[in-house]
Formats: sequence, C-alpha cells, structure tokens
Amino acid sequence: MPTGIDGVEIRTGNLKLDLAETFAPEKDDDPAKYTKGLGLHASSFPDTYEDIVTMAANAAKRLMERKGLQPDDIGRIDVATESAFDHAKPVSTYVAGCLEQVFEGDFHHANKGERKFACIAGTQALDDAVNWIEAGKNRGRAALVIATDTALYERGDSGEATQGAGAVAMLVDEDPDLVTVDPDQGYGSADETDFLKPNQQFPSVDGKRSMQVYLARMREALTDFERSWGDTHPDQFALVPFHTPFPGMVRKAAVLGFRHLMRGTDIEDALESEIGRQPRRDDFADDEAFMDALSEYTDALGETDRYAEWYDDTIESTLAISRHVGNWYTGSVHLARAAGLREAAQAGVDLAGEHLLVASYGSGAQAEIHAETVQDGWEAEIEQLNVEDQLDDRYDISWSEYETIHEVHDYDETTDVDPFTTPSREFVFDGWGRMGERK
Ligand code: CAA
Repeated sequence: MPTGIDGVEIRTGNLKLDLAETFAPEKDDDPAKYTKGLGLHASSFPDTYEDIVTMAANAAKRLMERKGLQPDDIGRIDVATESAFDHAKPVSTYVAGCLEQVFEGDFHHANKGERKFACIAGTQALDDAVNWIEAGKNRGRAALVIATDTALYERGDSGEATQGAGAVAMLVDEDPDLVTVDPDQGYGSADETDFLKPNQQFPSVDGKRSMQVYLARMREALTDFERSWGDTHPDQFALVPFHTPFPGMVRKAAVLGFRHLMRGTDIEDALESEIGRQPRRDDFADDEAFMDALSEYTDALGETDRYAEWYDDTIESTLAISRHVGNWYTGSVHLARAAGLREAAQAGVDLAGEHLLVASYGSGAQAEIHAETVQDGWEAEIEQLNVEDQLDDRYDISWSEYETIHEVHDYDETTDVDPFTTPSREFVFDGWGRMGERK
C-alpha cells in the first residue's frame, strides 16, 4: 500500500514584522534588498502566549479535527525542531499533553520522539514515519509528524531579516489523499560548522558560507538522486519545493537543479547554440578551472527563456507563503510543498498523478532530494488550508513592539508583557509545563 502525506495543516505565529515598511528603515536599508534581493516581504513571530508547542498543538488539533481522528487513530508522534527548550523531554510529549485535553482518550500507546538535524529534521521525521508504516509496525494507525520552530536570530545578525515562526503538521498514512513519499531518494552530507547552536538559543551563523554549503550539499544530493531515479528531465516534475530560508536562496538553488535535471536531454541540445553544452570535468586540467566554467554556464543558463519558463511553472508558486512569513526552519520545505499545491489548486491545474521533487536541507549539513506523487484527493485536501486567513489576521508590529517581542522569546530573559492579539479556543503558553486550551 503506498504511504505518504494524507493531510497537512499550517500554523503561523500571530504577529507580523513588515520588512519593507518597518525593518528596512530602522536598518537604513533600501527595502528592495529584502523584497527583491532576499525575496521576503514579512516575518511571522509568535505572540507572548505562543511557542513551538502551542503552534504545533494548534496545527495538529485542526488536522485531527478535520480528519475526524482521535488519539487511538495515531500510533506515533514525531516533532522536528531546532528550537527545543528541553534537552531531555521531547516536544512531542508536550504536544500530546495538549491534545489529550481536547480529544477523547490518550496517546499512551503512541511512540513519541524528537528529530534534530537543523531544517532537514522535518523531512527526516516524515521519512521515519513512512518507513515505520511501510515496515508494517503501525498496526493500522497513522503517524503525526510536526515541524515547528521559532527561527530567531540575535538582534543585528545578518540572518535577522530572514526570521520566522510557525508549524506544519502532517498526517502520514497508507493510501494518502495528498502525496505518496516515493522510494527514490538522494543524499549529500558533510560535517560543516556554518550554522551552530551549541547550548545557545540564537544561532552562530556564517551567512555567506552557509549559502555555499547549501548549494554544495544540494549538488551532491541531486547526483545521488539521479543514481536512484535514472535519467532525469526537468519536465518530469510538476513542482520542485526547496528548503526556503528565503526565496533568494531558492533562486540560486533552482538553476543548479535545472542544470542537473536537463543534462543530456533535448533541452541541453536545444540550448547548445545559445550557451554551449555543460562543461565536463574531463575537459579541464583542474577542479578550479572546471568549477569556473560550470559557474559561467550556470549563469548563462539562468538567463535563458527555457529556464525562466521552468522556474515559473515549478518553483515560483512554492514560495508564495514563505515570502510573507520568513524561515520556518524544519517546516520550511513542507510549507513550500503546501504553497505550490495550493497555488495549483487555485489556478485549476490538475496535478493528480504528477511527480514532485522535494529538496530538503539542514545546516551542519545535509541535503535530501526525494520524489513524491500527487494523489487523487490532493485538491480537496489542500483547499482546507486556512493559511490566507491566518496571514491576514496577523497583528502588524511596530519596531518597538518587535524589540519587545524578540526579548520575550529569548528564554534567557524574563519579561512580563501583555499579548498583542487575543486567542480564542487555542492552546496557549502559560508558564513552563502548563499548556492549556483557553476557554
Ligand atoms: N535591490 C535589490 N537587491 C538587493 C539590494 C537592492 N537595493 N540590495 C541588496 N540586494 C541583493 C544582494 O545583491 C543579494 O542578492 P545576491 O545574493 O543574489 O547577490 C541579496 O539582496 C542579499 O543581500 P546581501 O547578500 O548583502 O545580504 P546580507 O549579507 O545582509 O544577508 C545572508 C544575506 C548572509 C544570507 C543573511 O540573510 C543570513 O545570514 N541569513 C541566515 C543564514 C541563511 O539563511 N543561510 C541560507 C543557507 S543555510 C540554510 O538554508 C539553513 C537555514 O535555514 C538557516
């Protein structure tokens, strides 16, 4: 029985920081650096009563209600996060505790865990759940996989403009409505130190180097994926959701992906008179000369109409939500998949039976490329998302409110601040160890 994602729910933080209107003037920057250069318009932030647990629990609650599920239907809860506040107890136990307050029964039978490998952990947790079901260990039960993060940087850090907060909950089951997670996978992995959080809340980041590492690991993962998939062609994939720290990063990764997928195809033949053929390592005396030629070819490829058409069809729509929320770390690639599917449904494009190429990445560093197949029930499922309403309902914070809320979410600080928005019938953070549904 094919296994994959049966349903998805998204929960954004209730606050919004506008990068052009609020952030850029304070930094004395041209707003276009953010809106055009990074491709970001706003960041989402958690209000004072929100954290990784409440965002995860609220997303999971809506997913379970919508799918008509009770705890007895779920055999596994995995939370992926790089913002965990507890080094022992997994975040999934806190989330299960919340859900037990509103559903009948309990999750005592469910295997709970926490996955950590920076942003790729959400995809690793998804893979774990698929493997658990395909190994026949689920005994008829589904898995709940939740990617949840508050992706905050130190004030003044170069990553500050890319911040974000939110959760993506996925129901993983046999015969899924949305997509199957297919066996073809490829990896690129190396011990890297460009983005670290050793016993510290905010990351130490070498931003420029982190972009190079992202691209290097993606290149390796694509090569490894081709060993599994066989001959590739860009038109084999209807959407290519990438891990999206900011859309500008995906712009750089997408052209590299296109170059790999089109090697040896009719597209490379058709572009030969315009930009030549892809450089081959054997034609160069050393690696440096080869890499220079490859980089020149990639730049020229990025300027072609054929590439622009592919980018518009397969990538652009996947960035539609992330442009307005920033980086969600573990949830980011799953947000990209949801955004691409949602845009396709709204445009009336039928994707049933089409393949997705999902490109996940985590600093430290590892990339995974895997294939998915869109299922017949995808449209009805994706139309249930209420993410547009959530984005519209966010409270737009001023600069001084941003300074305050950033401090509230620095858990080394103790700050008593009134919330900016009012939650109703939601899980709220009410002091460590006490999460409850607000009556
Ligand atoms: N109009 C249009 N574009 C402009 C502009 C203007 N007025 N001013 C600048 N730009 C462009 C720049 O040319 C640049 O684009 P290119 O890279 O295509 O040249 C872009 O805007 C950004 O400008 P800078 O490079 O000057 O920006 P920066 O140095 O302040 O910050 C960054 C960029 C280093 C990536 C920073 O955002 C950062 O540190 N981010 C955190 C780390 C990160 O996200 N890394 C990504 C890979 S690692 C990963 O993916 C894991 C993860 O989730 C963190």
